Amino acid sequence: MCGIVGYVGKKEATPILLDALKRLEYRGYDSAGIAVLTDKGLSVYKTEGKISNLESKLPDIKGTCGIGHTRWATQGAPTTINAHPHVSGNIAVVHNGIIENYQELYDELKSEGYEFVSETDTEVLAHLAHRYYKGNLVAAVIEGLKKVKGSYAAAFICEDSEQVVAARKDSPLVAGIGNGENFIASDVTALLKYTRKVVYLHDFEIVSLSGGNIEFFNFEEKPVKKKTESIEWNIEAAEKSGYPHFMLKEIHEQAISVHDTLMGRLSELGGDVMLSEVTLTREEIRELERIVIIACGTSYNAGLLGKYLFEGLAGIHTDVEISSEFRYANPVLDETTLVIPISQSGETADTIAATKEVKTYGCRTLAITNVVGTTLSREVENVVYTMAGPEIGVAATKTFTSQLIALYLLAVHFAKARKRMDVDRSKRLLVSLKQLPGMIQQILNNKETILKQAKRFSNARDYFFLGRSLNFPIALEGALKLKEISYIHAEGYAAGELKHGPLALISKDTPVVALATRGLTYDKMLNNIKEVKARGSPVLAIASMDDTEISKYVDAVIRVPVTDELLYPVLTSVVVQLLAYYTADALGCPIDKPRNLAKSVTVE
Ligand code: G6P
Repeated sequence: MCGIVGYVGKKEATPILLDALKRLEYRGYDSAGIAVLTDKGLSVYKTEGKISNLESKLPDIKGTCGIGHTRWATQGAPTTINAHPHVSGNIAVVHNGIIENYQELYDELKSEGYEFVSETDTEVLAHLAHRYYKGNLVAAVIEGLKKVKGSYAAAFICEDSEQVVAARKDSPLVAGIGNGENFIASDVTALLKYTRKVVYLHDFEIVSLSGGNIEFFNFEEKPVKKKTESIEWNIEAAEKSGYPHFMLKEIHEQAISVHDTLMGRLSELGGDVMLSEVTLTREEIRELERIVIIACGTSYNAGLLGKYLFEGLAGIHTDVEISSEFRYANPVLDETTLVIPISQSGETADTIAATKEVKTYGCRTLAITNVVGTTLSREVENVVYTMAGPEIGVAATKTFTSQLIALYLLAVHFAKARKRMDVDRSKRLLVSLKQLPGMIQQILNNKETILKQAKRFSNARDYFFLGRSLNFPIALEGALKLKEISYIHAEGYAAGELKHGPLALISKDTPVVALATRGLTYDKMLNNIKEVKARGSPVLAIASMDDTEISKYVDAVIRVPVTDELLYPVLTSVVVQLLAYYTADALGCPIDKPRNLAKSVTVE
């Protein structure tokens, strides 16, 4: 994830900026840069790759005021030109977030004669600040940001004076108060070596550091009184924002990551999905005869939901294949097939090898991935990025729900192109998609119920997760999560298939998690619950809040908010993730680094 730092004080800024950036390395990044004010003006250095790379290229820079950045590419490849800071005249900027109205601002600024050198959306921020700068950097930043739609934590520096100005909307920003020196950063971890006195900025707030002063403003340029907080966390705890594990932190980030996957991609007015990165024309989408999704692990489970969506909404025959199997299966493919590789990392060898293979058949290709500039993204025609931010815990959580969201978006896009979905239906679905972050937050607020159930069954040796239809992939994912991090044997099963064999394993010692949200197969699911109850299994149901019936048949119910029937998988995913997490925690397992597993498997 991108990281921002800024410093104004009496010491040399460069070593402080580099050290603070290094403290953000754990978040993942692919390029880095700094801008320092020297007596010859702004000194800007940036490079792709590691901070050590940047460090080795730096001359001796003298200056006590500067900004720095680690970039995790989202728009534009991870190159030196795209690295931050971006400069416009006498102003430089570093930015985390996404500018949604980038194209509009780009056209406007270009027509005024501004030159763009990078592929990033951030460059418009530099030009906007430059356009409005008349000697007051705070005023220029406010004027510029008033034109911007999207999310940002952005820090600006101008050649004219020793000052750093930073502002936020929907992206974290914290100021650090030192002795005669002040800081800003996107993450408190960057500051802990220098100060424990911090001020968290809220949306549409600005901070200005100059000399030993620190001032806060709102977007009307009126001073704002802020509370100083003292951070007690050590660096390790701070990296995890106080959570004991990255996995729990990442589970909690899902209200934001789902929002980020959706951001800028919904036009509720016409019920349209805007995926400018998909270059398939309407005509080409209509002509598709088949979709083949290829993936491994958690990404494969996401792909299974894709099958329901592409077939159910867009009427395109869809197969989902395990990459390592598909490659050697003599697949029948041609140019009427769209192959969708899904890979969080974009570096999974099995998925890359299978993608290379399908290209020899002339198939169209479109990847869903979370990391920009990876091998997979270079192999395909189109990439839909999930924008979930880097994931550190080995067990995928937030990247999984973002993959689901990307699949909803693609399915609606295809359904509309093929005239299989009317505007009313798509509008309703898009409104419900937008409500998901709030609903995820509701589930997270109620996590104690999940914790209680996890502890209750944490001594089980075997677990079953049952689901039907759209919830079947989530049953698989729930079982996978539990296996991965708690080492309990767990099976995900299509509930209707249980009676054809595995029912023989069901007993009072095998807890069953039943994903039983409202929808087409709800009644059938109740029957399956009765089947396992009759054999003595304790049943934990995941059901919607309006379900008054289910508690009659099960031992405990975990509730999720009421949403569109199609979207329940996103909500049930969060529950099974928390269930796995709390079970593994109760057993004292090394959650972020489970034995034998790797985050990215780059061998076939
Ligand atoms: C590894 C990870 C899994 C992941 C799978 C696919 O096995 O441990 O969590 O689901 O790779 O990874 P990808 O990056 O392709 O989604």
